[in-house]
Amino acid sequence: MAAMTTDTTGAAARDDASRPGGPADSPFVRACRRQPVPHTPVWFMRQAGRSLPEYREIRANVAMLESCRRPDLVTEITLQPVRRHKVDAAILFSDIVVPVAAAGVDLDIVPGTGPVVAEPVRTAADVQRIRPIGRDDVPYVDEAVRMLVKELGDTPLIGFAGAPFTLASYLVEGGPSRNHVKTKALMYGDPELWHALAGRLAEVTLAFLRVQIAAGVSAVQLFDSWAGALSEADYRRFVLPHSTTVLSGLADAGIPRIHFGVGTAELLGAMGEAGADVVGVDWRTPLDVATRRIGPDKAVQGNLDPCLLFAPWPVIEAEVRRILDEGRAAPGHVFNLGHGVLPETDPEVLTRVVALVHELSARPAEGA
Ligand code: CP3
Repeated sequence: MAAMTTDTTGAAARDDASRPGGPADSPFVRACRRQPVPHTPVWFMRQAGRSLPEYREIRANVAMLESCRRPDLVTEITLQPVRRHKVDAAILFSDIVVPVAAAGVDLDIVPGTGPVVAEPVRTAADVQRIRPIGRDDVPYVDEAVRMLVKELGDTPLIGFAGAPFTLASYLVEGGPSRNHVKTKALMYGDPELWHALAGRLAEVTLAFLRVQIAAGVSAVQLFDSWAGALSEADYRRFVLPHSTTVLSGLADAGIPRIHFGVGTAELLGAMGEAGADVVGVDWRTPLDVATRRIGPDKAVQGNLDPCLLFAPWPVIEAEVRRILDEGRAAPGHVFNLGHGVLPETDPEVLTRVVALVHELSARPAEGA
């Protein structure tokens, strides 16, 4: 065990994880790898969060960024939905701006608003101030992942980071934005500065994911939540090279990589080219259509509309059936929502959806 705390490659953790029935042999990881599964695995983006009363309680007097920097809180919050819903994977509790703050950007997460940046990044000098990061800049993430891997046993832990475009939008706009006007103005008006910024964010993201991989996560997801704001041509020119730096840069890690965005129907093919094993699909594109766009060599993840969880149960049940049917067209399917769990969601409905996905997708063991 001592070797695990000093190991910086993740090799020891991975060897242990790949034992039969271990996290690397779990239904979630197997589906990502397009291998046969005993049932369709399911987890939910934002499963650890405001929909859970136990989460609201633990966060009552702790600011969001502070909670991300306390391994005891990160561990407890990450485990909450696993205990409650019996999902097939945990996702590290953190936020996409955590590595950017570690890289020296002065920002805060404001309740009800989201990330707010004190001095928006708009010049070459601003870009220069974003420092490269390593393990010692985010020791709390390294520690939380190691604690979680022990606590989770056979349940895989998903690490994550924000993609260069989505991160750049927060940094350039200074906060959440509907139209990404300043970001696009910079992109079109000063492509060289844009590529310098996105390139630097790609390095920060790659380093941040490497810390999580070395600490033992079983998969990673790159969140490009706002990529759907771009045309395919602009996505290919301004974003794809940088997301490729991140995803293809992790090819040697040997763990599944998931690439997710919202409103990306026209981008699914391009997003699949960045080097992921799994492409996340929102509710606007049926999974059979999505898999035709992405190609037969990648699994898909999705894609129940988070708002559907507010419908009567028979409606939810019919939609879960439809998504499982459409997902059979893909070479691997991880059931999820098309975007994160909304804070007002009844957690009991989430628990029921997990049980339903498992029941409807159960396949008899080989040879049985
Ligand atoms: O869900 C919660 O309430 C948990 C706490 C929380 C997180 N981020 C965790 C998180 C809160 C309050 C935030 C702030 C924040 N950061 C917001 C929400 C603003 C609000 O009050 O409604 C937003 C939009 C951000 C920026 C952000 N963080 C983006 C765009 C993403 C990518 C995923 C997405 O939703 O599009 C994140 C990732 C994130 N923040 C995760 C978690 C737990 C990712 C992991 C997961 O899916 O569970």
